[in-house]
Amino acid sequence: MKICVLNGSPKGRQSITMQYVRFLELAFPAHTFVTEDIGLRIAAIEKDEKEFAKIIASVSSADAVLFATPVYYLLVPAQLKRFIELVFTRNAASAFSGKYAASLTTSIHFFDHTANAYLHAISEDLGMNWAGAFMAKSEDLLFEKHQRNLVLFGQDFFDTAARRPEIQKTYPPADHESPEYRPGPVPLPFDAGTKNVLILSDATPGSNLEKMVGRAASCFGKAASIVPLEEAGIKGGCLGCCRCAFDNTCIYTDGFREFFEETIQPADIIIYAGPIRDRYLSAAFKQFFDRSFYRGHVPYLEGKQVAFLIQGPLSRCSTLREVLTAFVTVQGANPAGMVSDESPVSGLTDARIDALCGHALRLAESGYIAPAGFPRTGGLKVLRDEIWGNMRAMFKADHAYYKAHGMYDFPQNDPVSRIRTSLFSLLLALPPVRREAEQHTKEHMIEPFARVFTDSPVLRERLKKP
Ligand SMILES: Cc1cc2nc3c(=O)[nH]c(=O)nc-3n(C[C@H](O)[C@H](O)[C@H](O)COP(=O)(O)O)c2cc1C
Repeated sequence: MKICVLNGSPKGRQSITMQYVRFLELAFPAHTFVTEDIGLRIAAIEKDEKEFAKIIASVSSADAVLFATPVYYLLVPAQLKRFIELVFTRNAASAFSGKYAASLTTSIHFFDHTANAYLHAISEDLGMNWAGAFMAKSEDLLFEKHQRNLVLFGQDFFDTAARRPEIQKTYPPADHESPEYRPGPVPLPFDAGTKNVLILSDATPGSNLEKMVGRAASCFGKAASIVPLEEAGIKGGCLGCCRCAFDNTCIYTDGFREFFEETIQPADIIIYAGPIRDRYLSAAFKQFFDRSFYRGHVPYLEGKQVAFLIQGPLSRCSTLREVLTAFVTVQGANPAGMVSDESPVSGLTDARIDALCGHALRLAESGYIAPAGFPRTGGLKVLRDEIWGNMRAMFKADHAYYKAHGMYDFPQNDPVSRIRTSLFSLLLALPPVRREAEQHTKEHMIEPFARVFTDSPVLRERLKKP
């Protein structure tokens, strides 16, 4: 069987993910693996139609397709994203159609499920049958247990591709065309006080998105600036070299860092505005997020309100919503909301944009950041453990930040809680104490809250007579 491997890593064969592919190749000598270095060669693939055609021919002649890629910013690298865009815009989907596809990602398990969900949905859009995902932690392959598991994955994938079973699709199609949006009369702007609003826009002239951006900007009056994404001046995608790990200095000198620090970071409210392209924003937007990796794993949008204006079928792209919301919360910002252009009633879109802008402004004024929830809580624990555990030798800037900002909040570092929990555990080993605890679990669980209602300074402040 011939397996076409689409390698998303910008590091080409010097990629961790490719070590997994090499292992599969050695473990399954009866199969032929043909690897296409998409991430490394995207500039040539994009420029030269012949290069693109060669890859499509390679896909065409294969029995199955393996997307093998690192996870970048909760998705795949911008370079692989761009290739996927080219497949659709150059009408090459038929080369993929009917084949079986799987994904193999390496990462630190920080939202690798969303990257794989994206590839799954894209494979279905290309008419392929999804055979599964193998989500490895970068160093897993060093261990025999994971090597065995990788062989089982390979076995299952190749068996599936050979048996060609009927597989139910998971994702609804996302090929919905947005109705034309015709904004109504310009609203009276809110008084934004000292707050400033940045709208980073990837809109094309005359598009629904451009009109949505215009409407949002007019809600804020002079407080808002619209900045086209091209102004970021990005000359290329993140290369994954991790040169930035030591001191946040990127290998590129194209001015992106200055743009990021002078244009994005000073804003109180950021609105990212982009069209959906193949279930995510454009590859250009992905490149923007990937390049911000020079900031490492620190929450660089802390305290801001972040909203999204989306052109396209947002309601059918649940992974996009998850990725964008998680990105905002992990960065320490508040997800103020999203508005798309899906409604056939332009007045509704107007009202939604106006409400979103008003909401973001009120929250910026009150300083509200929604409680973390699972994506931020879980995400930060993964980052904390990885940075402290392995990465801090190289990611020195992250390590210094995590130390200085109390982000190494391991529970074992809290001696009071450790002593209390150990004592409690000992007490519960005594049968009469355990019996009493079992009978009154509910009362005991809410007991500590009783003093909040009598002693809370917040309640006192709220109830103070004017
Ligand atoms: C720009 C960038 C973004 C990354 N984003 C993520 C991420 O969102 N989640 C994650 O778990 N790992 C992330 N990583 C880590 C890589 O996925 C990981 O190091 C991977 O094994 C690299 O594979 P490669 O050598 O094949 O390129 C990121 C790395 C880079 C350089």
